[in-house]
Amino acid sequence: MDDQVLDAFDTAQLIPDFNAPQLPSEPPDRATLDAAEHNTRYWTSVAPGPLTPGSDAHRRETCRMFRETFNPYRPSVLEWPSLEPAALKRIVELPIWDIAVQTEGKARLRMAAYAATVEDPDMRAALALNAWEESRHKEVLSRMVRAYGIALASEPPYAFPKDAEWAYLVTGYSECVDSFFAFGLFEVAKRSGLFPPELIDTFEPVMQEECRHILLFANWVAWHRTRLSWWRRIAFELKVARVWVFLGWERIGLARTMDAEGNEQQQDNNFTVNGAQSVSDVDINVPDLMRLCLEENDRRFSGYDTRLLRPETMPKLVRFALRFMRSKPSAQTS
Ligand SMILES: [Fe+2]
Ligand SMILES: [Fe+2]
Repeated sequence: MDDQVLDAFDTAQLIPDFNAPQLPSEPPDRATLDAAEHNTRYWTSVAPGPLTPGSDAHRRETCRMFRETFNPYRPSVLEWPSLEPAALKRIVELPIWDIAVQTEGKARLRMAAYAATVEDPDMRAALALNAWEESRHKEVLSRMVRAYGIALASEPPYAFPKDAEWAYLVTGYSECVDSFFAFGLFEVAKRSGLFPPELIDTFEPVMQEECRHILLFANWVAWHRTRLSWWRRIAFELKVARVWVFLGWERIGLARTMDAEGNEQQQDNNFTVNGAQSVSDVDINVPDLMRLCLEENDRRFSGYDTRLLRPETMPKLVRFALRFMRSKPSAQTS
């Protein structure tokens, strides 16, 4: 049975010194869950003084943050509450499951591929754990898809990246964009009351994990760039600029992708507003949704040591855009 859910991906095959975390086999009790939830959300380094980006102390504490905030949930013990027919239909019809599963599939391979090239053992272990957690997200999604009978397109083969750094940058910055909107949408879904709270609870650790991932990424970028010689640094900044152009291009259009049988799959890479409407019957306007994304972004990062850097591009862009948007009064619940 589990063969359909667990695929052959093994982080340690790509990163030989990686030790996969040991997870408790028994379902946790409430107190254990609460402690894990608190632990993953709040973390402050005991190291004194500033954590100057790029310094050894910054690298060491970034990696320590990632290790110590690990949440040891086991996907196979997650509960999938039975759903009312209307809620089930709403979930099955959300246009996000294919892209969600495939995004995790790509992310784990690209992160592991890049992690294997990182010389610093501490940073390599942190990136490897991140890859492992993406694989766990994929397992969570696979179990949910199976529990609710969601039909998926067959997954295309995942190609090992030729340029691991490029692939890692695309994945990292994509996560910064997607997580920013996902935080807000998740809150819309929660407030709408259209999904059972147990299901929201099941996905909560995944959401917070994405916050940790982009926290790690923002600090990895800062650490990495300060260690480059001036000419490598120029090449790196050009690469980062190309990544942003690529992400913008990817998100402006509807990405057309083929599944493994060559059938065209319509995937909406820009489902933020459509998604907001699918997860709620509240007609939320764009400025309000953007404000909620900002609030949620701040809330999710608020428990981590303020000396660590946060991803800044999306919050800055959205704050800037909001200066030109006037919010119309929200339409009433239909
Ligand atoms: Fe993920
Ligand atoms: Fe992630």
